[in-house]
Amino acid sequence: MSVLSLQHVNQFFGSDSARVQVLNDVSFDAEPGTLSLIVGPSGSGKSTFLTIAGGLLTPTSGEVLFDGTSYHDTSKHNRDRLRLESIGFVLQAYHLLPYLTVADQFTLVDKVKKSGNLSHEDLGILLEQLGIQDFTHKFPAELSGGQQQRVAIARALYPNPKIILADEPTAALDTERVKIVGALFRQLAHERNKAIVVVTHDVRLDEFADQIYEIRDGILTKNSTGTFA
Ligand SMILES: Nc1ncnc2c1ncn2[C@@H]1O[C@H](COP(=O)(O)OP(=O)(O)O)[C@@H](O)[C@H]1O
Ligand SMILES: [Mg+2]
Repeated sequence: MSVLSLQHVNQFFGSDSARVQVLNDVSFDAEPGTLSLIVGPSGSGKSTFLTIAGGLLTPTSGEVLFDGTSYHDTSKHNRDRLRLESIGFVLQAYHLLPYLTVADQFTLVDKVKKSGNLSHEDLGILLEQLGIQDFTHKFPAELSGGQQQRVAIARALYPNPKIILADEPTAALDTERVKIVGALFRQLAHERNKAIVVVTHDVRLDEFADQIYEIRDGILTKNSTGTFA
């Protein structure tokens, strides 16, 4: 069964003559063990899609199901819990806290979510994989954009969520780092049974995906060249 399902989702922004449709009858399923890539140009609705998939925004119409249960039928308290325990977000703006060192970004997660996070050893392996193990005493402002992006990826993976939603996670990375991140996401999907959904305009990630979708003007279509197509 899919762990995350969007069914006939429409999203409008604005009102009256300024009303625009940003998602148009979008249906999508994420299975555990797969890396799904949604590729589209700027303004096509990618971030809106991901925000709705993560339950941060309620769509104008349509359903979002998590493990078969509608977000809509879940109390705000339970939705917040679900997000905290089961969904790892890698957001476009990184969302690192400026007054905390890299190490403390993880300590903060421990305070909010007290159990089920990666062990100290596994976190060390992850930081090394991402090449950021030497920056743990630095503040975000002391890091490059690409380094901050990798810290944000590590922080999203740290709570060991079963779903990972990533918005342009490789935009600031050179091609070698893109390959590392692509391989890491694929490994987490295939070996740890995560459902990973990446929205991006970075075609350098294509080779790592199990399924590829295209989004254009809010319309999502499965790419016929995708592995499972
Ligand atoms: N909160 C909002 N209010 C009004 N328009 C929005 C809002 N969020 C996004 N949009 C518009 O929706 C369209 C899609 O945006 P977005 O989902 O951010 O696309 P992408 O991530 O693919 O660049 C854009 O035209 C954007 O201006
Ligand atoms: Mg975006």
